[in-house]
Amino acid sequence: MKELILKTELHSFRTCREFAETFALGADDLILTIRPLYEKYFLPLSLPLKALFIEDFGLGEPTDTMTDAMIDAAEKAGFRRLIAAGGGSVIDIAKVVAAAGGKHTDELYAAPSEIRRSKGFVILPATCGTGSEVTNISIINRTRVGTKMGLVSDALFADAAALIPELLEGLPYESFAASSADALIHAVESALSPKATPFSKLLSYRAIEMIISNYSVIAAKGREARIEMLASFLAAANYAGIAFGTAGCAAVHALSYPLGGKYHVPHGESNYAVFTGVMKNYIEIKKDGEMAVMMGFIASLLGAEPSEAWDGLDTLLGRILPKRSLREYGVREDELEEFADSVIECQQRLMANSFVPLDKDRVLKIYRELY
Ligand SMILES: [Fe+2]
Repeated sequence: MKELILKTELHSFRTCREFAETFALGADDLILTIRPLYEKYFLPLSLPLKALFIEDFGLGEPTDTMTDAMIDAAEKAGFRRLIAAGGGSVIDIAKVVAAAGGKHTDELYAAPSEIRRSKGFVILPATCGTGSEVTNISIINRTRVGTKMGLVSDALFADAAALIPELLEGLPYESFAASSADALIHAVESALSPKATPFSKLLSYRAIEMIISNYSVIAAKGREARIEMLASFLAAANYAGIAFGTAGCAAVHALSYPLGGKYHVPHGESNYAVFTGVMKNYIEIKKDGEMAVMMGFIASLLGAEPSEAWDGLDTLLGRILPKRSLREYGVREDELEEFADSVIECQQRLMANSFVPLDKDRVLKIYRELY
């Protein structure tokens, strides 16, 4: 039994300058990032780096067409090592670009086991959410298929990841809130997964504790209080990333993909929209086992009774990031069935990790409750 999968070497630095010196960044490196991060943290270092900016290829979350265009641009620029500095979108695209080897997105999805990466690859997360710096998954909106899907291959693991809190200082509050909620959801889903192990659960529960404690401080002191806690959020997101890299994410992520794919709701926010709705349905089916452990743990952090864990967490999360109904995102009621079909057809990779199996009727029930 695999207890913990961690194939990426982990580093932490106070600043990008320290990272650049240790990793000897130079002319063979191509940095894939967004322009504001590059101008603020890398341009002042006067390095002979090549750079690609995702906003030049499209806005919003990564699509197959954006990714294909970036594969071509990276190939043209030439590089020996790819440095990804950014949030989930940058990292998802960079994983595919680093491993593409002349292929395009659809070809890579068609045969993930054949993907081989010949280039060096380093990830610097600039949000505190995805944990994607330590996983082998890239989520791309496959516009030609009509939903977001995960591409999974060990070739997508980076050689190294560096946690640099400086990179999060300019992160807008809304992005901070959505990404840290995503990290919390990774921690909860991985702990409840049937594939969880004692090692992955150590990381899941520690991440939950850190994020809920930090959220309580923000709820009490205000948004600016987060700045002092960025290193803690970055570490918690990484713990949760390692945990779900082993145990997987589950139904929350599965149900969020049709919403994110069709209505372009950012990943963290679309997960948040369905999170406690899924948890409340789990406990209608099964309240004992790991769910009892989880509810007791969350309740102890909130100073509540275990039976109030999900409502209490909803209240705390609502003070960090307002929750919206599916209707408020523009979803039509007649689309819910289509969403449920898409989850059952396209997201079995995630649904297999659910705390208890959820069939199409249950998925539709959850969507209706969240409508
Ligand atoms: Fe996520």
